Amino acid sequence: KPKGKWFCPRCVQERKKKNDVACFERIMPGRVVTDPEELKQFNVDWLKSVRGCSKLMLKPQTTAEVSDVLRYCYERNLAVNPQGGNTGLVGGSVPVFDEIILSTVLMNQIISFDKVSGILVCQAGCILEKLNEYLEEQGFIMPLDLGAKGSCHIGGNVATNAGGLRLLRYGSLRGTVLGLEVVLADGSALDCLASLRKDNTGYDLKQLFIGSEGTLGVITAVSILCPQKPKAVNLAFLGCQSFAKVLETFTTCRAMLGEILSAYEFMDEKCMELVEKHLKLSSPVTGSPFYVLIETSGSSSTHDEEKLNNFLEQAMTSGLVIDGTVATDDKKIKMLWSLRERITEALTHDGYVYKYDISLPVGKLYDLVTDTRARLGRSAKNVVGYGHLGDGNLHLNITAESYRHSLLDAIEPFVYEWTARYNGSISAEHGLGFKKKQFIQYSKPSEAVFLMQRFKAMLDPKGILNPYKTLPSSS
Ligand code: FAD
Ligand code: MLT
Ligand code: ZN
Repeated sequence: KPKGKWFCPRCVQERKKKNDVACFERIMPGRVVTDPEELKQFNVDWLKSVRGCSKLMLKPQTTAEVSDVLRYCYERNLAVNPQGGNTGLVGGSVPVFDEIILSTVLMNQIISFDKVSGILVCQAGCILEKLNEYLEEQGFIMPLDLGAKGSCHIGGNVATNAGGLRLLRYGSLRGTVLGLEVVLADGSALDCLASLRKDNTGYDLKQLFIGSEGTLGVITAVSILCPQKPKAVNLAFLGCQSFAKVLETFTTCRAMLGEILSAYEFMDEKCMELVEKHLKLSSPVTGSPFYVLIETSGSSSTHDEEKLNNFLEQAMTSGLVIDGTVATDDKKIKMLWSLRERITEALTHDGYVYKYDISLPVGKLYDLVTDTRARLGRSAKNVVGYGHLGDGNLHLNITAESYRHSLLDAIEPFVYEWTARYNGSISAEHGLGFKKKQFIQYSKPSEAVFLMQRFKAMLDPKGILNPYKTLPSSS
């Protein structure tokens, strides 16, 4: 057997790596990133809480290129981390080790929009806000909206089944996404990009990929049903004396506003303190322990304003609400929304953020914040609660000057056990990613986890797609 440098295993490894890069260069010339400086920002998540060490990022432009890449990676057993706008909050969007980052940043073409049906078909890398702007010009809007809209990609939204601020009105992506194109682990492309409202031909395969967090396939294109742009939008920002009043205000406004109610969000006074302190935002409504943001969207401003005014009068006279302001013009609407939307950003300025995204029966929602606050006492800097109350979704966030393992131990599994006791979900809308995958059993029976593992094994038998994410590591 010949000896020498050539057969040193490290050299063979190096040679293979060089061949890999050369192969990817052939597939997408000039769109293979190996510069360590350039790679840094794609290796770390938005919260700067998890970091990988990928040495390679690929930026395909077409589905055919994604297919070629995955076919090659499958053959060579190379792990791949699909990445959209990298705004995910559970550590799913960045590599754990040196997985290849497959970015959809250049897959940003709108394929078609049908004004009669309101169906948009686009590539997965389109930025949510850009899609919304495009649609607004045509009298439509996207059925989802979230604070990360300026960076997140529609493919990432579908892969996480993102909820956001409009879910109360337009429902989840499981209803509005009509079709998907997905490239499977072995490189084969699955064209389920239907643009039909009704299609009962067999199993609805797209549902498997919605919320699969890049573990079952790479979403390359999306067909989505978009609502008409509302002609009239009103916003009320109100202060409540207690969480019980927040709930009563919700039932009252749902009854009185009916079909025009499009968002019901809440935040506690600590959140308000943080957006004021760290982002210098100032609220026209102050001095309440809780705040709610109510949005109406409809087709007639006089009708909607009349309804809203009747509701506000009732809420004020019955003492549900102690203070408030209303906005009908775009500028004030944006300003009031930013008080709610930018809480996430304000928290990152407060220190290390322990982030929880919980579904609970709505009546129990704030008890988790109160109990966590009592449990942690002075060991936490701030314990805050906000979220999509209309969807039964609480964002419980805890800050500390810096990450401490002892604080994590005090929070977990306490928060998950608490949630399971009330049959809640430990991930309402953010997914499990890397950070929550080991806790799936708090919200899913073992039979369900086992079936998920079988799906994973069938679609990705070599486990190359976003390994170490979503499913517990025993898989
Ligand atoms: P990434 O972060 O890049 O990826 C997220 C996951 O999807 C990863 O597992 C990744 O591998 C996978 N993935 C990405 N693209 C693809 C693809 N094409 N094919 C297959 N897998 C893919 N989330 C909510 O649900 N509601 C909110 O209200 C909300 N508000 C937010 C506000 C802020 C300020 C921030 C920073 C985040 C917020 N998020 C919210 C979380 C995040 O924005 C969403 O999860 C979003 O959908 C992620 O999209 P992305 O393109 O950034 O995906
Ligand atoms: C939100 O509703 O603001 C987002 O889900 C982000 C977060 O949880 O902070
Ligand atoms: Zn949210």
